[in-house]
Amino acid sequence: MTTIPTGSLRPRTTGPLVMAPSILSADFARLGEDVRRVEKAGADWVHVDVMDGHFVPNITVGPVVVHWLKKCTSLPQDVHLMIENPENYIPAFAKAGAWNITVHWEACRRPAEVIRLIKKSGCQAGLSVRPRTPIQKVAPYLKELNLVLVMTVEPGFGGQSFMPDMIPKIRWLREQCAGMAPSRRPWVEVDGGINNDTAPLAVHAGANVLVAGNAIFAAPDSAFALKTLRHRAQTPIL
Ligand code: DX5
Ligand code: ZN
Repeated sequence: MTTIPTGSLRPRTTGPLVMAPSILSADFARLGEDVRRVEKAGADWVHVDVMDGHFVPNITVGPVVVHWLKKCTSLPQDVHLMIENPENYIPAFAKAGAWNITVHWEACRRPAEVIRLIKKSGCQAGLSVRPRTPIQKVAPYLKELNLVLVMTVEPGFGGQSFMPDMIPKIRWLREQCAGMAPSRRPWVEVDGGINNDTAPLAVHAGANVLVAGNAIFAAPDSAFALKTLRHRAQTPIL
């Protein structure tokens, strides 16, 4: 992990900037190699997108992938559940080796109970909102959360364009964090369309975890792409 430098970023974001490459854009026939390459290049977490074909119109992976990834990387696995009834699968993902489990507010009938279940299973707890959901929906749970994930694309697919009108959500979260003890502040994670142009906007607004799939794994050199993205994300906007 690196520390965010001085400059205009300082008022909103302090502490490390976490880079979390999303395996959604990796080569699934060479997943271990792809993940090890970004680990060597300084990735902090590996983001695992789980889709069920119901909550989103796409299907991806289950706990088995988390289980085998754990054997080939020491990076914490940041598991993003884009699934309905997430409570039915949380224990399995935790057992497989998830470090963080993020569920969608829209998919939880009782978010507080789901957050408790994630923690009881031994994982860090995250809550996410789709673009159309107001970020204020997470307010009642903020104190219990380790992470809040702002979706900056409609969940379901990699390679979409960043939605700049999500920036106020990031700013709102950062403002909420300001009123909390530093040790209780959740990570503010941004997911969707993050690249060299959009990463500085997200970080400037207050994000301290960047998920990036296409910008890293679709690049000819994923290690170089990751390092460049981290550098660009931390370049002050004048
Ligand atoms: C989208 C996923 C993202 C996706 C991001 O539903 O949650 O994590 O992998 O991909 P890019 O960075 O390509 O937008
Ligand atoms: Zn994701």
